[in-house]
Amino acid sequence: MSKSFELPKDFLLGSATAATQIEGGDIYNNWYAWSLIGKVGNGESSITGADHYRRYAEDIELLSQLHQECYRMSIEWSRIEPKQGEWSKEGVEHYRDEFQRLIKAGIKPLVTLHHFSCPQWFQEKGGWLSENAVEDFIRFVDFSVKSFGDLVSEWCTINEPNVFANDSYMDGKYPPGSHGDIAAYMKVTKRLVIAHLKSYKLIHKIRKEHGFAGETKVGFAHHLAIFEPFDSHPLAKLGRFLSDYLFHEIHMKGFVEGKLCFPLGFGYPEGKGIFCDFIGINYYSRHLFKASYNPGNLFATPMVDPSISDSEKNDLGWEIYPEGLYKVCHRAWDKYKLPIYITENGIPDAKDEKREKYIVDHLYQIKLLLDEGVKVERYYHWSFLDNLEWNDGYGPRFGLVEVDYTTMKRKPRLSALRYAEICRTKRIENRST
Ligand code: BGC
Repeated sequence: MSKSFELPKDFLLGSATAATQIEGGDIYNNWYAWSLIGKVGNGESSITGADHYRRYAEDIELLSQLHQECYRMSIEWSRIEPKQGEWSKEGVEHYRDEFQRLIKAGIKPLVTLHHFSCPQWFQEKGGWLSENAVEDFIRFVDFSVKSFGDLVSEWCTINEPNVFANDSYMDGKYPPGSHGDIAAYMKVTKRLVIAHLKSYKLIHKIRKEHGFAGETKVGFAHHLAIFEPFDSHPLAKLGRFLSDYLFHEIHMKGFVEGKLCFPLGFGYPEGKGIFCDFIGINYYSRHLFKASYNPGNLFATPMVDPSISDSEKNDLGWEIYPEGLYKVCHRAWDKYKLPIYITENGIPDAKDEKREKYIVDHLYQIKLLLDEGVKVERYYHWSFLDNLEWNDGYGPRFGLVEVDYTTMKRKPRLSALRYAEICRTKRIENRST
């Protein structure tokens, strides 16, 4: 039996990227320094990217041809403030032109201010562990919103604060490469919460004071995964609970409600209120938690369900689990009743064999949510272009559009053409499962 369904005409469909992963050419950010010491997969470097910094006009035309209605991108802090306190006119002009072109093409920009990277000068001061971290970041936010706020009304303050702090201070994958430093994880998480709360207020204030047109919308992009106990072992359940609390929950409370929870602290540092106009959800996969007697692992080790076949995994071995999108959205909605944007959802699939079905199956979960009155308003597929997958280098192919890294030629994959039709018609024909 074929199943067809439609999404509402005002539901926006598009795609997402991040500056460090696609732009190339910037020597002032900390991922370039990280590449230089061989920390990116296969000795690769962020200096390459997909050459988007020079090809952005061509890429916007491609976005338009693919009927993308909205586009989530980030601005590279180090291009705006390459040295502390020195603001780059060139950087500002570049991004202004990029936003203008997007708007002219009828594509709504959602702009991320912090997507895992920072200027190397900020990293050298200690990054988010430095005493002035929040202050430094807020200065950048202030400058950016004053420089771009007439063109950009929608802002995402911080991308995946949980993944960022975990991979930088617990797993040693992102700069500064610390391992198991739980104190740093907490300290940085608390600072990211405070930076978001202050940014939320500041962005609204600046856009209002300047009379910038368009409704100001500010949120963050939270990485929410499905965590389940592997079996009924009490430690599996305890470990799942602790990881869920420390990886998902304390961020929700902080970023949305403005509340610092144990062990971050107590109380409301910026007052009580709601500090998100939308909740951005980045959803990819499910993890099972297997009992472990190691308290350093929070009593359980995350793993991929051993019973699933290769056809249910992506090129990086992550489980493809569309129902999880329904679950994470429902949980956020039930608690906060705030509009939800799927700020990321995608698949590394070099052969492009699974992407179309992946998109359709996840959109179907959104349709189920909409039918139940859950206000999901946007879907940004990750990613528009093939890009630098952080430590994994350029191997994983997340792009709707394939990039040939020798010639930098772009080629929309078949799944991109199918997705473009969905964006145009809001209609999904013949869902096969
Ligand atoms: C990040 C992206 C990344 C994607 C796939 C998210 O964690 O925000 O930068 O490329 O997942 O791993």
